[in-house]
Formats: sequence, structure tokens, C-alpha cells
Amino acid sequence: MEIIEDRMVWGIIRRTLSCVDPRLVDHGERVAYIALELLRSAGVDLNARKNAAVLVLCLLHDIGAYKTDEIDRMMEFESQTVWEHSIYGALYLKRLSPLSGGAEGVLYHHVGFKRLQEAGIEGKSLRLADIIHLADRVDSVWKNELDFRSYLEPRRDRFFSIENVDLCLSAESRIREGLSSGRYGEELQNVVCRMHFSAQERRRFLEMLALSIDFRSEFMVLHTITTVGASIALARLLEIPEDSYSDLYYGALLHDIGKVSTPVEILEKPGRLSPEEFEVMKKHVTETGKILDGYVNPKAYRIAVRHHEKLDGSGYPLGLKAEDLSLEERVCAISDIVSALVRRRSYKEAFDKEKTKRVLQEMADQGKIGRRGVKAVIDHYDDFMETIGHTGEKIMETYASIRTDYQEMLAVAKAGQIPSLPERKPLDSLFTFD
Ligand SMILES: [Fe+2]
Ligand SMILES: [Fe+2]
Ligand SMILES: [Fe+2]
Repeated sequence: MEIIEDRMVWGIIRRTLSCVDPRLVDHGERVAYIALELLRSAGVDLNARKNAAVLVLCLLHDIGAYKTDEIDRMMEFESQTVWEHSIYGALYLKRLSPLSGGAEGVLYHHVGFKRLQEAGIEGKSLRLADIIHLADRVDSVWKNELDFRSYLEPRRDRFFSIENVDLCLSAESRIREGLSSGRYGEELQNVVCRMHFSAQERRRFLEMLALSIDFRSEFMVLHTITTVGASIALARLLEIPEDSYSDLYYGALLHDIGKVSTPVEILEKPGRLSPEEFEVMKKHVTETGKILDGYVNPKAYRIAVRHHEKLDGSGYPLGLKAEDLSLEERVCAISDIVSALVRRRSYKEAFDKEKTKRVLQEMADQGKIGRRGVKAVIDHYDDFMETIGHTGEKIMETYASIRTDYQEMLAVAKAGQIPSLPERKPLDSLFTFD
């Protein structure tokens, strides 16, 4: 069974990002809708994939703001400090998403059309930047109940291309009607849901979402990747049939995605959580369930939402017992614990080999996690850690280079120049099991 169907991709992105901040999803959807009406006025084929991809990029154009705390400022009209989220968003899309071709357009979505042309930006990136820029401003114009024409006319050809200004003015009544009636979300969905993604692209979208936890905490990214690596490595040791790997991979990949809703003070708290804070933390499992429900296949869903259940019924949220839990669900639960032990977290240092083995053995002896799984990890400890360490390094290298690129590009922008996006390969799939 496919992990996720084409028509579900848009929904799961929306739902995950809504958990981070619903305002940005609303704004992204309105911008995508305005772009949709521009494309319609231009008579382009909305079934063509490249046009539908423009709409997905419009939805995601401010994705960098989730990271850069610009959300509040961005909601203001004509915000001045726009480079941080534009740069981070472009790097994120370039390196971690299946939409890397649109990254440059997102990078320039707050730069005037003429200025971009003068800087030698052309073709697809120029067109995309212009569409997003115009739709983004028109959303503010609409929200502030201003007139489209008096805003756009003086900016024609300088801020925005003549072509898109004309398209927008000719579509004004439809845009206003769509936005005011609230119909825009549905209209957009109808177009984007017809878009086809290859298995590889769907996989990259889900990986991108799993990594969006980084918006909250980089510890969490490494934790996720380590849990995925440990799950597959343990499945191999336990000789679980390979046709389960895909479910295990996605279950582990998405197990903590609900943490996008957990307050960052709790996620990154140095030290033990108070009982009240722990209750808040525990909610991430239900949040994971809410994000994945109906979107990913049921087996992967259960692996994800059962990762804190224990064999003796002492886990959460449901207090399920051994007989309720499949082998794959147990594998993910053990892997989650292994990952928490061997990696540094905000509240603890990484545990060494002896301590990790001891804690695992104790939990197995108490009947909380599977004995066979724990024995496999302990017996093959060094090899096991080497396999999972490798994937972790790859992703952390990518993050480190995103951070360096970010600082360098920001310095260029702050010096009043237009930064360019370094040519780098997108991250390969995180883990190969197929
Ligand atoms: Fe923006
Ligand atoms: Fe925006
Ligand atoms: Fe968790």
C-alpha cells in the first residue's frame, strides 16, 4: 500500500504547518489563490504540473518565517526586514524539499521586478518571484481594504511586471469574491489535488515535513533521524520481512511530528520537566495522530502514534499492552528510546555505551519494552550504532551547511546587494531501504 496518495500531499502539508502557526497557512493559501486567479486570467493550463507547482510554492513561500521568528513582523504591511525568512525558506526548499527548482523564486519574493532584472535574474525564477511578490502584497491590500488599482498602478513595471499587474487588475473582482467568501481554500485544493507526484517526490515531501520540526528544535531533527535509522537497523537484526520497512520508515520518520505544536520552551528545556510540563509534552502523540490521521496508511500511522506505549500498559496515550502492539510498533518504541539515550538532548548529555545498555536492559527486565529487541541491540551494539550514526552525520552536515549559507547570504543582503543561492545538491533521501 502506498504510504500517502497524491491527493493527500497538499492536505498533510497544510495540516502540519497549521500546527506551527495557522496565520501563515492562511496567508500562504490566500497568496496561492491570488496566483491561481492570475494564472487563470493568463489562460495557462492548470493541469500542467509546473503551474500547479507554482501554487504549492506560493503556499510555502514564507516557510522560512517559521524558523526566523519573523511571523509577527511579517503580518505587518510592507515589512522592511524580509531577507531572513526569504533566505532561510529558499535554503530549506532547495536542500530539503522536492521543489528545489522553485527555491530561487522564493528567495526573491520581496524584491522589486526591475531590481531583479537589473541583477540579471531571469526566466523561471524571475516569473515566480514576481507572482509571489505581487500576490503577497495584494493579500495585504485586500486585508487592509484598499483599492487594487491605486496600489498597483504606481508600482507597475518597477515593483511588479506590467503583465502581472494587468492580469491582477483584470481578475480583481474574482480575487475579492474568492477571498471574501472563503471559497479560496477549496478552489485551490481542487487544482492542487490533481497534481501527480512520483513515489520519490512524495517521500521527499514527508521527509521535508518531518524535518520541519527543526523549526522548533534542532535536537529533534537528530532525534528523528536516529529513530529512523535505529528502527530499520533493528528490523534487520530481528529479520522482520522487508515489505514492512516502508511502514516502519515512515512511522519512525513521522512519530514526533506532533511536536511542531509543543512550545519550544518545553522542547528545549535544559533539565527535567515539571509534572505539568510533562503533561504538555505528552500531548505531542495525539498531535502526531491528528496530523497523520487519514493521510498516511494505517500501519505507518499506528507505528507513529504508539511509540510511547509500553508492553506492561504503563505507556501513553492509550496504555495499550503487549498483545495490542505489533512487532514493528515495538521496534519503533525501542528505537525511540535508544535515540533518546545515545543522543544529547536539551535535558541530558549523550549516554555512553554501558549506561545505554544498562537502561535498556532495566526497561526490558521491567517488562516495558521487548526483550528480544533489546537483546539484539545489546549484542550488536557497536555495529548498530555505527549504522545509525552515519545517517545522523549526513543530515547534520546538511544543516551545518544551510546555516553557513544562511549567514553568508544574509551578510550580502545586509550590505544592500542581492544574494544568490549557492549551487548545492539537495539532500539525498535520508535512508535507503529500497
Ligand atoms: Fe515573505
Ligand atoms: Fe508572504
Ligand atoms: Fe515522542
